[in-house]
Amino acid sequence: MALFQSSTSVIPDAPAVPRHIAIIMDGNGRWAKKRFLPRVAGHQRGVERVREVVKACRELGVEYLTLFAFSSENWRRPADEVSFLMQLFLKMLEREVGKLHENNIRLKIIGDRSHFDDKLCQRIAEAEQLTANNTSLTLTIAANYGGRWDIMQAVQSMLQARPELTSSFNEAELESYLSMHYAPEPDLFIRTGGEQRISNFLLWQLAYTELYFTDTLWPAFNREALQAAIQSYQTRERRFGRTSEQVQRKSADA
Ligand code: IPE
Ligand code: IPE
Ligand code: MG
Repeated sequence: MALFQSSTSVIPDAPAVPRHIAIIMDGNGRWAKKRFLPRVAGHQRGVERVREVVKACRELGVEYLTLFAFSSENWRRPADEVSFLMQLFLKMLEREVGKLHENNIRLKIIGDRSHFDDKLCQRIAEAEQLTANNTSLTLTIAANYGGRWDIMQAVQSMLQARPELTSSFNEAELESYLSMHYAPEPDLFIRTGGEQRISNFLLWQLAYTELYFTDTLWPAFNREALQAAIQSYQTRERRFGRTSEQVQRKSADA
């Protein structure tokens, strides 16, 4: 069974500080180009922002932070950029895992690992194992992730494990096979870099997430920018299908 139920079947809490923030970290290439630097310099600077945002989330009491690092479509980029990004991911795993562990952070990696080399797969497994019981923040990195891939792999894994479900199954049964079955659905989605699209990120899980788009490029997205996104979230009324009056009556009763 899924640990958390879908926002389309139950009404989840709408906490003041989002329990789960999911971010598309976009704009690294443009940040570098503006400074006449190679695109990869933007990716490098982006790593510093990952550190800053992880720390800020932990301090603000966010329970889950999910970062889109590499999409299933990013293989279409020039080979040298793809290989730089893979190397950077491996280096991050090797260098940062100790620090994450010291800070009681649980690390999870979601995405299709079938194209990763053995060394990378091994580092991922070790990092997840080392940090598995940590309790301050769950940091999920989506690497070679695609929302459609996730739904497809969930259906396939479910039918393999439970062939009796072939003729019918419900949302909860499917959800327990999705990559993020261990987390509640994101409360707040942030995309930096100015584009207003989902780019095949968490398609299933974003059903009722509050969306926030900013022109700030990822290498410039700091703690203050994160706080501005959270402040915007705090002005939203999360109705989950109900009327505004119903929502207000419920908060008056509480
Ligand atoms: C996001 O920045 C990082 C990855 C997709 C890995 P981009 O590299 O997409 O930067 P822009 O969008 O070209 O500026
Ligand atoms: C989305 O960024 C993926 C990541 C941030 C990892 P892209 O820059 O690849 O997205 P599109 O292709 O412009 O939508
Ligand atoms: Mg981009």
